[in-house]
Amino acid sequence: MQEIRTQVGIVGAGPAGLMLAHLLTREGIESVVLERRSRDYVEQRVRAGVLEHSTAELLDATGVGERMRREGLVHHGIEMRFGGERHRIALTELADGRSLVVYGQQEVVKDLIAAGIAAGSDIRFDTEVTGLENIDASCGSSPAIVFRTSEGEEGRIWCEVVAGCDGAHGVSRASASGRARVLAREYPFAWLGVLAHAPPSSEELIYCRSDRGFALCSMRSPELSRLYLQVPPGERVESWTDAEIWGELAARLAIEGGWSLPEGPIIERAITTMRSVMVEPMRYGSLFLAGDAAHVVPPTGAKGMNLAVADVRDLARALVEKVSKADDGLADEYSTRALRRAWRAQEFSYFMTSMLHPLPDDPVGNRLQMARLDHLVGSEDLQRWLAACYVDLTGR
Ligand code: APR
Ligand code: PHB
Repeated sequence: MQEIRTQVGIVGAGPAGLMLAHLLTREGIESVVLERRSRDYVEQRVRAGVLEHSTAELLDATGVGERMRREGLVHHGIEMRFGGERHRIALTELADGRSLVVYGQQEVVKDLIAAGIAAGSDIRFDTEVTGLENIDASCGSSPAIVFRTSEGEEGRIWCEVVAGCDGAHGVSRASASGRARVLAREYPFAWLGVLAHAPPSSEELIYCRSDRGFALCSMRSPELSRLYLQVPPGERVESWTDAEIWGELAARLAIEGGWSLPEGPIIERAITTMRSVMVEPMRYGSLFLAGDAAHVVPPTGAKGMNLAVADVRDLARALVEKVSKADDGLADEYSTRALRRAWRAQEFSYFMTSMLHPLPDDPVGNRLQMARLDHLVGSEDLQRWLAACYVDLTGR
């Protein structure tokens, strides 16, 4: 049985866990990151890829933004498409010059892993956390993280603080759940997401509401498109052929006067469920939850990774004070502050989701969506609000 001692034990090497380790290392705080998947798996996992202004700034400010600035695509606007018409929302103009960077989540993960390894950080892949112990410990015994490697070796990490960054299905949320209030809502649809070797149809993201369902055109590079279709909940990826996916995208995105979507081989496909989940509070004694372990937002609006990064930006500051100066002030405020921001992101994601996904058998709901879109594209005030939320909701 391996016995290891560190200051902060981090469960999960997604954006939250890796960014936290990175920020702590820069402040001279020791941590160990435990990740049940392989390095290759987390580096290849395709997820959302829109970085808010402040997220991109944090990567820059902490020395991991170089490749993002070189390869990421800077965006200054988005398109809202509905009723067969296109409407541009000039995000940068409306949001005091701020912009977005489209850069895949797995690229951020790769950059953080490379920086961590270069700095000598202890990141252990293929290592599953099986339990948390003594998270409520007062004096005497310190908290511990129990793990097992893929080779079957068991161990325990003794630490001062546990950061639960292990996503929606990890042990951290489960360890808290006896005392947590979990608020959850499922939306009556899902997204079929594909990555295609095809140039993006336009330079900006297209959010499209059609009576046939929602569609989203995003991208990863000038050669790679990332596309989504609203599908019924419980849909299986195998039930769609490539031709059906392209056909449905073209039908939903059709506009008066014609428009065509460049097609190419589909290299990856997955179903994303649409949920809102909030775990309150985000702290249980020595256990601090961050990212998807604490909250899941529906993907419309691309807030998941930005929220995760914002959580650990605050958490790192709090833990530096706590661990190196025995000052609990920021740690005591962490949950309230992070939940307030996460609820704001839920509300924005809900706004976007409920405006853009038509519901079968709800003619009034569908007309209300059209009225809301009509109001939005006719009102600079509403667009200004949307732009501020889209470009930088989690930064303040
Ligand atoms: N032991 C070790 N690792 C675990 C365990 C466990 N028991 N359970 C889960 N994990 C790991 C997962 O394998 C995953 O790599 O925790 C990690 C959690 O990472 P994410 O799910 O990416 O969550 P988070 O870091 O909070 O990122 C949040 O980023 O990629 C976006 O859309 C994504 O909204 C999400 C956001
Ligand atoms: C993506 O590029 O994957 C993406 C973009 C915008 C969203 C969700 C996902 O709202």
